[in-house]
Amino acid sequence: MVPDNGPLADADGGKGAAVDRTADVRIVSDESGEPGLIAVVRLSLSDKLAEDEVWQEHFDVHLKWLPDNIQRICGYGFTEILNNAIDHSGGSTVLCWANIEANAVVLAIADDGIGIFEKLKLHFALDDHRHAILELSKGKLTTDKARHTGEGIFFTSRMFDDFFILANHLGFSHSADGDWLIEVKPKEDPGTHVSMSIDIGSKRTTKEVFDMFADPSSDDLTFSKTHVPVVLARHGSNELISRSEAKRVLSRFEGFKEVLLDFAGIEWIGPAFADEIFRVFHLANPEIRIAYVRASESVKQMIDRAIAGAACPPNRGEL
Ligand SMILES: Nc1ncnc2c1ncn2[C@@H]1O[C@H](COP(=O)(O)OP(=O)(O)O)[C@@H](O)[C@H]1O
Ligand SMILES: [Mg+2]
Repeated sequence: MVPDNGPLADADGGKGAAVDRTADVRIVSDESGEPGLIAVVRLSLSDKLAEDEVWQEHFDVHLKWLPDNIQRICGYGFTEILNNAIDHSGGSTVLCWANIEANAVVLAIADDGIGIFEKLKLHFALDDHRHAILELSKGKLTTDKARHTGEGIFFTSRMFDDFFILANHLGFSHSADGDWLIEVKPKEDPGTHVSMSIDIGSKRTTKEVFDMFADPSSDDLTFSKTHVPVVLARHGSNELISRSEAKRVLSRFEGFKEVLLDFAGIEWIGPAFADEIFRVFHLANPEIRIAYVRASESVKQMIDRAIAGAACPPNRGEL
């Protein structure tokens, strides 16, 4: 249940007077200084908090005027991300808000828990927070297999035009233009802050995004394809050269029928890195199709060289 009153509740349908927004609103990229605030609510996190009730009571009621496809995308993203705060963050409160900026709906959800990258790093014994981001971007990553599927962030980030997570001193952004990471040096609030925005005129639908990652050749319309931004495997300006870096990229590919490697932002890869992905992995897993996009000429050359070294016909290619 959503509390109706008390110090944590503030659902005034548009003014947000009882919440100190100056402390939080900077998470949303608000350059206008006067965002069109739709609603803001701070809630106590507990297992009893129901994400769909929060969405309907405090946000959806103010967004009925949006086109259906945008309303559905907003409802999906908001409930997935709020559910994550409830089920995974271990925090005590969450602040959620919705703005209209320019022609876009911006939704933001900030909890005060452990921070998503730290949670994943600890659970999967990963080397660092960046590695957690690489794994997260592949999808099907969950720390609670019994109750979750690991799809929420993957699909939400692909439905919105811009998707941003700030946690554990790292900012991760996903948009159609690509993925990037920033280190956030100054002291930041604890927890996980997610913001996502979509242009009100966008024609994208939730179905279209689910279909994009399902296998059309099978009746099984589940999540079977993924799209991996290879740039997330790189540390700083280092080139991707080693077999161990390739193995990081390749980990958990067995859970998919098709993987699209996106080489945006990568100028060059080393021969061992290419060989591990396009020959060694392929020989061991011929049923998994590996395709690639946005490869530079020199990346393509390395890939072709590795494919030429494969003993059997390649089951992959450039899209
Ligand atoms: N707010 C959060 N705080 C801490 N960890 C989080 C948070 N949101 C997501 N996570 C971690 O990221 C994983 C992936 O989230 P998601 O894609 O929504 O999948 P799922 O919820 O099905 O596990 C979760 O299993 C959890 O470990
Ligand atoms: Mg989830």
